[in-house]
Amino acid sequence: MPTAGAQAGPATPVLSVRDLVVHFPTEDGLVKAVDGMSFDLYAGKTLGIVGESGSGKSVTSQAIMGLHRGTRARVSGQIRLGEDQLLTIPDERLRTLRGRDVAMVFQDPLSALHPYYTVGNQIMEAYQVHHDVSRSAARARTVEMLGLVGIPNPAKRIDQYPHEFSGGMRQRAMIAMALINDPKLLIADEPTTALDVTVQAQILDLMKDLQQQFGSAIILITHDLGVVAHMANDIMVMYGGKAVEKGTVDQVFYHPQHPYTMGLLKSMPRLDEVRRTQLDPIPGNPPSLINLPTGCAFHPRCAYRAEVPDGRCDREAPQLEVLATGQEARCFLTEADRIRLRFDQQTRSEPSPEELAARTGEGDEGEPTRQNSGTTSQEGEPR
Ligand SMILES: Nc1ncnc2c1ncn2[C@@H]1O[C@H](COP(=O)(O)OP(=O)(O)OP(=O)(O)O)[C@@H](O)[C@H]1O
Ligand code: SF4
Ligand SMILES: [Mg+2]
Repeated sequence: MPTAGAQAGPATPVLSVRDLVVHFPTEDGLVKAVDGMSFDLYAGKTLGIVGESGSGKSVTSQAIMGLHRGTRARVSGQIRLGEDQLLTIPDERLRTLRGRDVAMVFQDPLSALHPYYTVGNQIMEAYQVHHDVSRSAARARTVEMLGLVGIPNPAKRIDQYPHEFSGGMRQRAMIAMALINDPKLLIADEPTTALDVTVQAQILDLMKDLQQQFGSAIILITHDLGVVAHMANDIMVMYGGKAVEKGTVDQVFYHPQHPYTMGLLKSMPRLDEVRRTQLDPIPGNPPSLINLPTGCAFHPRCAYRAEVPDGRCDREAPQLEVLATGQEARCFLTEADRIRLRFDQQTRSEPSPEELAARTGEGDEGEPTRQNSGTTSQEGEPR
């Protein structure tokens, strides 16, 4: 089933995930990290995946990259990238696709950049693995990419080591490495969490600009709803290894359908409160993925389960269903219930996606800093 809002894209998705399951056998029991995930992603579009810590966001992205191969993880379902079924293709084919057709940007670029090699060498190598070009051609392309991601004086910077780059510059270098092969799909897992707010806004704008140039599809994993509002077309909200709501940014922000999403949005600080928009809202803890609650996994924390008759939420697991609005939700509440609940919540209105996106671009002084790529810090250089 297409992700809501995907109809604006071309007919064939770049990435199609169906019934993805990733379970980890452990001494304590089977960790059901991802349990039946499906979505489509189209060229030039961004899907934001949000959810509390441990909800299965990174495990999903690792499955797409094939990183569970050769481990004890039990993986099933389908992940189709173009013509390739990623879960069943030979290792050699997967190695060809990794870095070329699908690339990843991590939260911590230091863990992805080797400290003993220059930044330039590492990016050149990523390029030469997939292109039969001379070293000087790879170097020229690397200088070009470093310039494109806003690194000043790239012809000099190319010979520096990761520790000589600031955090923001390292993240720019990672993005250069990820995009140098013009991938169809870029997975960014908390790409700006480690950066200060001003640099975060610059990096997000850079990714947006580059997406327009390269036409890549992006999966953006984040705790920060402001980042999603700033970047994504569609949102998938995860809870306990499953999607509980899917829709376009406007659908989900203006008309959330699942009580968990409603809780996340309701907990967002108002402009006159705290500036940051981290998700840390709902009473109670995320569920154990070894012993998920019976019925709806969210029911122990759900303020609205009494709205559903006969204790159904405690006994029966809801399926993800397409609603009249076009978005999808995993919940027994009726349309009438949801309208009433949202109305009740309006005593403390939720921030709009525009408001959240704008706040993502705020610097410490509260001044908007949404700028184009390569924008400069006060010292005259991107950080
Ligand atoms: N190799 C593994 N073996 C056992 N359990 C694992 C393994 N990798 C991940 N998990 C578990 O799977 C669950 C989902 O992990 P995942 O890293 O996807 O969470 P996440 O949503 O990305 O959280 P965060 O926001 O903290 O990054 C967690 O409970 C985690 O402990
Ligand atoms: S199914 Fe019941 S417990 Fe689950 S989110 Fe809906 S109302 Fe809450
Ligand atoms: Mg994670």
